Amino acid sequence: MKLVEQIKQPILEEMELFESKFRDSMTTKVPLLNRITHYIVRRKGKQMRPMFVFLVAKMVSNGKFEERTYRGASIIELIHTGSLVHDDVVDDSNRRRGFFSINALWKNKIAVLVGDFLFSKSLLLSLDNDDFDLLKIISNSLKDMSEGELLQIEKARKLDITEEVYFEIIRQKTATLIASCCAIGAASVGSQKEEVEKMRLFGELIGIAFQIKDDLFDYTDAKIGKPTGIDIKEQKMTLPLIYTLNNCSAKEKKWLMNSVKNHNKNKKRVKEVIAFVKGKGGIEYTTAKMEEYQSKALKILETYPNSTYKDSLLTMVNYVIERKI
Ligand code: IPE
Ligand code: IPE
Ligand code: MG
Ligand code: MG
Repeated sequence: MKLVEQIKQPILEEMELFESKFRDSMTTKVPLLNRITHYIVRRKGKQMRPMFVFLVAKMVSNGKFEERTYRGASIIELIHTGSLVHDDVVDDSNRRRGFFSINALWKNKIAVLVGDFLFSKSLLLSLDNDDFDLLKIISNSLKDMSEGELLQIEKARKLDITEEVYFEIIRQKTATLIASCCAIGAASVGSQKEEVEKMRLFGELIGIAFQIKDDLFDYTDAKIGKPTGIDIKEQKMTLPLIYTLNNCSAKEKKWLMNSVKNHNKNKKRVKEVIAFVKGKGGIEYTTAKMEEYQSKALKILETYPNSTYKDSLLTMVNYVIERKI
């Protein structure tokens, strides 16, 4: 059995019901918007975030499940989807989930508004059901995500990023939402504050590993349904490059910085930079860091009694690192 199928086993029914609820959460009478939301739902992603919500909810409560657990998953997936639609505008990227991005098909103006619509639907879904506790968790993440993206842009312009700032960026732009998945999963079934916080931290750790994996993909030619090799083009300095800059001669550093600053749109030069980073062990260093976060996340899981839900979460933590897309 494939890893993902294995993970989904204890939540098969919930995932199936989730899909129709998620689809319903995007309804609109505006024909253009309707066409676009249909397009989005057809090209669904890995749905890892709802999986985290459901598995955590069940693990902390011995299989208990509430209607608001579904809503928790939907508000997160709406925010996630909206943020991807916006992200492809920001990153000027024309592919997502193996097909054209919204901005590639309908242009930036429409993509920005579609993202706003998805965010507003997320807020309404929790407000209409008085899920204020869940809304508080998710709103905090949404704020973090925009701050993280802006910090990333600021660093891409100044090219003065440090390892510490890199981790802060990925915590804010990516890990915070996965942290919210796990916090919301726990909160939705009535967990106490301490447990919600413990699960939030678990999600944050695995979320950081998740984004490191995403950044590693960019250094490969893997077919992951979105472009690779675009981070340097966007002057986005991620951990393999940051490490290399700190571990090479002054002359090499000058060449690297000049490449990123002035030749970032030159495909041949970008390939040379990637090869240089690989030669300096940037990939190995980054992989080791990713595994550090993975094992910290695993340690938290180990404090729970054995269950099929815990098993799935353990597999999920490994899947984040081993996934092919
Ligand atoms: C993509 O997330 C955005 C990042 C944080 C790297 P996913 O890889 O979970 O996206 P989908 O939903 O499966 O397409
Ligand atoms: C992650 O950013 C997406 C969000 C946090 C919204 P990236 O720009 O690094 O991710 P991909 O590679 O486009 O999915
Ligand atoms: Mg981006
Ligand atoms: Mg992007």
